[in-house]
Amino acid sequence: MKAVILVGGFGTRLRPLTLSIPKPLVEFANKPMILHQIEALKAVGVTEVILAISYRPQVMMSFLEEYESRLGIKITCSQETEPLGTAGPLALAKENLTTTQNDNKPFFVLNSDIICEYPLQEMLEFHNAHGGEASIMVTKVAEPSKYGVVVMDEDTGKVRKFVEKPATFVGNKINAGIYLLNTSVLDRIPLQPTSLERQVFPSIAEEGLLYAMVSEGFWMDVGQPKDYLAGLRLYLDHLRRSSAGSLAAGKNIIGNVLIDESAKIGEGCLIGPDVSVGPGCVIECGVRLSSCTLMKGVRVKNSAYVSGSIIGGHSTIGQSVHISSMAVLGEDVHVNDTMFLNGVVVLPHKEIKTHFVKPEIVM
Ligand code: GDD
Ligand code: MG
Repeated sequence: MKAVILVGGFGTRLRPLTLSIPKPLVEFANKPMILHQIEALKAVGVTEVILAISYRPQVMMSFLEEYESRLGIKITCSQETEPLGTAGPLALAKENLTTTQNDNKPFFVLNSDIICEYPLQEMLEFHNAHGGEASIMVTKVAEPSKYGVVVMDEDTGKVRKFVEKPATFVGNKINAGIYLLNTSVLDRIPLQPTSLERQVFPSIAEEGLLYAMVSEGFWMDVGQPKDYLAGLRLYLDHLRRSSAGSLAAGKNIIGNVLIDESAKIGEGCLIGPDVSVGPGCVIECGVRLSSCTLMKGVRVKNSAYVSGSIIGGHSTIGQSVHISSMAVLGEDVHVNDTMFLNGVVVLPHKEIKTHFVKPEIVM
């Protein structure tokens, strides 16, 4: 079985993290976002993942080569010369998706910026049972307007209407960005910029061939900083229930905390809840961390405080620094000792030498 991950897009809403690497490679809970997806696909028997990419494929591919052999899965790249939207890339990969070895089996399609429980096995069973042409996973959210909204028949899952980013309330079940499609769907997509959500799904729904499976598990589009941290909280909470042993424990830990085994934690720190500390991080003594992510190779010096913020890889947080309120530091940012940073967004490779008492972008 094959899968397409829609990788394209510039990840503008996750800047400055995406200034150094493509969005799917941004670390989430100590590993690149896309690895969470590739591992889940591998677990249900997917043998080839096609990355549909419209921007900087070399960076992605050289990075993922290592995982091809480590995970034993083929990873290929389908590169657009112009962005083809969410459906066009499937038309571009048509030949690969319909090879005879693939036996016209349905294929998965995933948005690259979502984190969830990936109930893919359940989805395969759901798809095989309904006999329609396409299945989409849906989830319930309180604020549906920034998503694709699905109106469906509760008993059968048949989708009556699919409305992308509705201006007025249509319902609270939204497209979770995971699909299982029959290869016949490819005949509906021209090789030009086309939207699954605005063109393809509404027309399949109209013919009564689109089905939705409601997932009750956690789900988050982590393509924006605030949602990224909310997603981290949900993910860690899920780890607590599914593999509590992978979370940190001890008297200096509060709630759910994930610390990579190669990270070093000094004396007298207080860490948690909802924190991830990435590979190679060094946390000196008396540091306080809560609701934050430290990506790989970050050093936090003595008595610093980081809360509700994202710290890009290889950054250094000086002694007694205070960072809070949704600050996002790009890669390799150096914050001098005792600085106060409130809600700032800092571009990669900057040195911070002054306080920032209100949110702003540091270029
Ligand atoms: N290859 C390629 N080419 N990929 C693309 C392109 C393109 O031109 N444009 C977008 N993508 C990829 C993005 O990288 C992302 O993985 C996915 O398609 C969806 O694009 P987003 O920009 O993240 O869309 P969204 O978050 O506003 O909405 C989508 O996701 C929601 C769930 O998070 C829609 O699918 C909604 O219906 C859905 O509810
Ligand atoms: Mg998105």
